Amino acid sequence: MVNFWTPQLLIWVSSISFLIPASLGFDPVDNYLIDCGSFANRSVGDRVFVADNSSSYTLSTPQNIVARTSVNFSSSTSDSVLYQTARVFNGISHYTFPIKEHGRHWIRFHFFPSVYGSYNMSKAEFSVSAQNFMLIREPQFEGGSVVKEYCLNVTADELVVTFTPSANSFAFVNALEMFSLPDYLIPKEASVIGLQGDNRSLSGNALETVARVNMGNVTIPRQNDTLWRLWVSDDVYLLHTNLGTFVSRVSAVNITGRPEIENIAPLSVYGTATWLNTELDPRMNANLTWRVDVDPGFEYLVRLHFCDVVSTSTQQSLIFNVYINSQFASHLDLHSLTSNKLGVPYYMDVITRVSASSLLNVSVGPSTTGASDPHAILNGLEIMKINNHRLSLDVIDTISSRSSRMKIAVIVGLVVGLFIVLLIAMVVILLFRRRRKLSDLDSEQGAHCAMYRRGKFHTMDNEHYSGTPIFSSSNIGYRFPLVAIQEATDNFCESLIVGIGGFGKVYKGVLRDEIKVAVKRGVPQSGQGLKEFWTEIEMVTQFRHRHLVSLLGYCDEQEEMIIIYEYMENGTLKDHLYSSNLPSLSWRQRLEICIGAARGLHYLHTGSAKAIIHRDVKSANILLDEKFMAKVADFGLSKTGPDIDKTHVSTAVRGSFGYLDPEYLSTQQLTEKSDVYSFGVVLFEVLCGRPVIDPSLPRERVNLVEWAMKLQREGKIEEIIDPSLLGQIKLESLKKFVETAENCLAEHGIDRPSMGYVLWNLECALQLQGNGEKPGHNGETSSQVQHVDSSSTSLPTAEFSVASVGELAGISMSKVFAQMVKEETG
Ligand SMILES: *[C@@H]1O[C@H](CO)[C@@H](O)[C@H](O)[C@H]1NC(C)=O
Ligand SMILES: *[C@@H]1O[C@H](CO)[C@@H](O)[C@H](O)[C@H]1NC(C)=O
Ligand SMILES: *[C@@H]1O[C@H](CO)[C@@H](O)[C@H](O)[C@H]1NC(C)=O
Ligand SMILES: *[C@@H]1O[C@H](CO)[C@@H](O)[C@H](O)[C@H]1NC(C)=O
Ligand SMILES: *[C@@H]1O[C@H](CO)[C@@H](O)[C@H](O)[C@H]1NC(C)=O
Ligand SMILES: *[C@@H]1O[C@H](CO)[C@@H](O)[C@H](O)[C@H]1NC(C)=O
Ligand SMILES: *[C@@H]1O[C@H](CO)[C@@H](O)[C@H](O)[C@H]1NC(C)=O
Ligand SMILES: *[C@@H]1O[C@H](CO)[C@@H](O)[C@H](O)[C@H]1NC(C)=O
Ligand SMILES: *[C@@H]1O[C@H](CO)[C@@H](O)[C@H](O)[C@H]1NC(C)=O
Ligand SMILES: *[C@@H]1O[C@H](CO)[C@@H](O)[C@H](O)[C@H]1NC(C)=O
Ligand SMILES: *[C@@H]1O[C@H](CO)[C@@H](O)[C@H](O)[C@H]1NC(C)=O
Repeated sequence: MVNFWTPQLLIWVSSISFLIPASLGFDPVDNYLIDCGSFANRSVGDRVFVADNSSSYTLSTPQNIVARTSVNFSSSTSDSVLYQTARVFNGISHYTFPIKEHGRHWIRFHFFPSVYGSYNMSKAEFSVSAQNFMLIREPQFEGGSVVKEYCLNVTADELVVTFTPSANSFAFVNALEMFSLPDYLIPKEASVIGLQGDNRSLSGNALETVARVNMGNVTIPRQNDTLWRLWVSDDVYLLHTNLGTFVSRVSAVNITGRPEIENIAPLSVYGTATWLNTELDPRMNANLTWRVDVDPGFEYLVRLHFCDVVSTSTQQSLIFNVYINSQFASHLDLHSLTSNKLGVPYYMDVITRVSASSLLNVSVGPSTTGASDPHAILNGLEIMKINNHRLSLDVIDTISSRSSRMKIAVIVGLVVGLFIVLLIAMVVILLFRRRRKLSDLDSEQGAHCAMYRRGKFHTMDNEHYSGTPIFSSSNIGYRFPLVAIQEATDNFCESLIVGIGGFGKVYKGVLRDEIKVAVKRGVPQSGQGLKEFWTEIEMVTQFRHRHLVSLLGYCDEQEEMIIIYEYMENGTLKDHLYSSNLPSLSWRQRLEICIGAARGLHYLHTGSAKAIIHRDVKSANILLDEKFMAKVADFGLSKTGPDIDKTHVSTAVRGSFGYLDPEYLSTQQLTEKSDVYSFGVVLFEVLCGRPVIDPSLPRERVNLVEWAMKLQREGKIEEIIDPSLLGQIKLESLKKFVETAENCLAEHGIDRPSMGYVLWNLECALQLQGNGEKPGHNGETSSQVQHVDSSSTSLPTAEFSVASVGELAGISMSKVFAQMVKEETG
């Protein structure tokens, strides 16, 4: 009577059967699984690792070397069947994978450092890179199998993975996985701990999985994860196991309507947890802490997974705090985050920087408000290392990370190399001198240097680094070999000097890969200099920000004190304000530069748990890149403050004459407000375009700050404004700017605004300036009156209406503008 198999039902049944595998596993668009060195396909669970001569990707290697181990893995656990064979590379080799879907991909490398025939894999020395990222650099294999997992955002139509063996060594790999990930797995940006509202973009970064932990003392094998992740039990990471209670209630997890959550983490991660044990003592006040070993000097993306599988009712509150390395990260009310439902998964991402310590602590603990029961829970934890600005994910000290055998080889190499360098240098210097005599005043900048550069240095390196492009910026660490710097600066060629300061000279240099650098070479003798050298390196490696000049490396070979910075095309702010022939900056440019510098300083003051005080803020330490974006430089005198100085009140007063905070001079108490004072001085420098101290002027005018403040009090600030700015500045903008500068220069630190407030006010000044101004300064006109006319034609009349003058009547400087208003309205 009823035909059960209606077409609808058939469609329904087939779509169910189609849905089931989709919801049980993720089906990547790009999916390469390779059992390296094998001639047979091997199944691991439900996945097939293909023999290493498949045609779906290309392998290019100088010699086709495959190796087998005598250990019989075929009866062991499923993963290890991949260790039966390995591929060996005795020269630079590439796997090239065609990519169908752009976006995040995982690359997993499986290594089993055992003996394979004549190859002892634990002796292998190599690096692995992909997409310009240095993923693995001279791994130190100890003991059993190693799986390394990297996440790249692939934006090209192919991905090339390159194995580069070290000289006289080889590279190997047992298996390779490369597959696309769901779009939502890795966030495009995440918040940085301690910097509310300051999200950091991740879309261009490579990530390395450092730890993937399941709480509740349960390990989840790859077969149970839709993305074949291994979740390691937390008992080895948990610091005080007696504080935690392990919970397992996988059936309590409710993912109704959110099937994709299974790709974020398996249900068994959300269904197991470590719970702050308050049964022993309900008033227990403690944190549950997990500790993971990490490499210092990197940022980490930390993902925490939560799911309340413990509470029986949402009437009970579950409010707790999350700390990362003792820094407060978040205050979570888990029930309200999950719309008051139990068993609903929730995860959060946060980025943290690990500076000095090689530990990363993650803690959950009772909320400090005390309003709720002292409970806390954590279900899962993932820690992913973010590549540094050298595009590396591995520890980078090229010399110290090598084995002692290599170390000796390198040292011998360098000694021989330096001897050759010296010989060549002598020959070249002789030649150079002779040529200079001949060419006399024919001194086109850098011409001699270039000759030197193309001369012998290259052949010298080739001897010692066997053709590896070692001096480019992407594949060496912070610690540069001296020869690399000599090459970049043509052995400190005088014509490449771009600045000279108390510490020594700054050279412009070019690395092998055409990256321009600024090389700051300290004068070796002074003991104080050495301390400042290391302070500077420490400060700059810790703090990275758009508006702080970034460090590329340093060199301490042969008592040199060299710091290598990114090159700033447009030099110092000072050079653009006076005493050079550079074109004058427009008012808008000046405001933008001040805002950039203020942002950099604000970050120093607030970007970490302890404020950093720059101590030497001046226009010569504000550098401009090719787009005139400002970056703060020179951290040699920086200090964490203010509590350090409470114990070291006798610290010698340091800083630059003319910029020094008078309160700091008299009390020697260092606070962020000393930087604010110096920044106020810079603001007047920017407005007036003259040196802070100009002894050539009449006595009362020598000190810019004194003179400007006096004129300001007398309402005659116009007398001191940089003539090239007159007519460009809108009244309100000037008012705001001068007021800000004045506040910064308050006698007592306590009366000075914070850098954040200064920043806000400068942004206001920029807003008030509006967009009416023509870009850049026009050099055609020279008289002040003409200036006023030419620019006021482009301004709305309202800007100078009588009403606005009335509002400003109390402001001393309004008289200046009364004149301009007359011009305008008359
Ligand atoms: C391995 O599997 C791939 C695809 O799954 C197939 O094309 C290939 O022929 C298989 N190779 C061997 C040796 O079985
Ligand atoms: C890979 O090697 C095996 C064994 O030598 C051979 O049977 C197979 O055809 C090869 N596959 C390809 C794609 O070359
Ligand atoms: C490895 O062990 C399995 C089972 O123990 C056995 O069947 C197989 O022949 C062994 N293979 C080799 C190469 O010894
Ligand atoms: C392989 O190399 C490691 C490290 O150099 C060494 O400890 C080990 O004894 C070697 N094994 C063999 C079988 O040579
Ligand atoms: C920062 O990123 C998070 C996602 O990690 C997002 O929810 C938030 O809205 C972002 N905040 C800002 C200010 O962009
Ligand atoms: C990958 O990079 C592209 C281009 O930079 C960007 O548009 C995209 O959002 C990135 N994807 C992810 C998942 O970060
Ligand atoms: C975690 O589980 C393992 C084995 O399952 C057990 O040996 C260990 O004692 C457990 N750890 C704790 C802290 O209970
Ligand atoms: C993994 O999956 C198997 C089969 O589905 C199951 O029996 C086992 O309990 C799971 N293990 C964990 C730790 O979830
Ligand atoms: C799971 O959540 C959905 C809605 O989010 C709800 O309708 C359902 O009753 C829940 N299931 C259980 C077993 O609590
Ligand atoms: C991590 O926690 C331990 C114990 O609480 C502490 O000794 C250590 O200093 C912490 N490390 C960091 C970097 O916070
Ligand atoms: C948990 O750790 C944070 C950061 O170290 C600390 O401020 C807080 O007092 C700790 N809470 C308890 C209850 O010990």
